[in-house]
Amino acid sequence: MPNSTSILFVCLGNICRSPAAEGLLQHSIGAREEKGSIEIDSAGTIGYHTGKAADPRMRSAALNRGVQLLSKSRKITVQDLHSFDLVVAMDRENLADIQRMTPEPTAKIRLLSDFLGDEWPTDVPDPYYGGDEGFEYVLDMIEAACPSIINSIST
Ligand code: 4NP
Repeated sequence: MPNSTSILFVCLGNICRSPAAEGLLQHSIGAREEKGSIEIDSAGTIGYHTGKAADPRMRSAALNRGVQLLSKSRKITVQDLHSFDLVVAMDRENLADIQRMTPEPTAKIRLLSDFLGDEWPTDVPDPYYGGDEGFEYVLDMIEAACPSIINSIST
């Protein structure tokens, strides 16, 4: 385990998918000894929802799984791509938007699905305009990726 590791999850609005990933990973790490040395945050590629809490539908779906989402939306900055160790994009559009921000990021930039098997789709589907099942699916996908994300930062 390195002395410290930092992970930034990124989606479009930073009110649905990436706050859920931030909260679920934080919860998965739970009481592990190294918890204090892992910084977990989230951001969006647009600043439209800056300062807002996560979407109430996502907060409620996460709370049903025992996870409280407390983050406030913020827009990703170029500085993030130099200060975080790992940046995890929710879909390929987010990934392309991040890659356009700076030619030489020091952060490793990955898709969430890089931490999943082939039975999962490449993109975490945007649940914003859909029904409750979309929020559940996002949580299922993130929960499935957490062990492999933890493994990647622990080795
Ligand atoms: P997120 O979902 O990227 O998972 O936070 C969205 C939130 C807001 C919008 C789109 C997607 N929007 O268009 O405002």
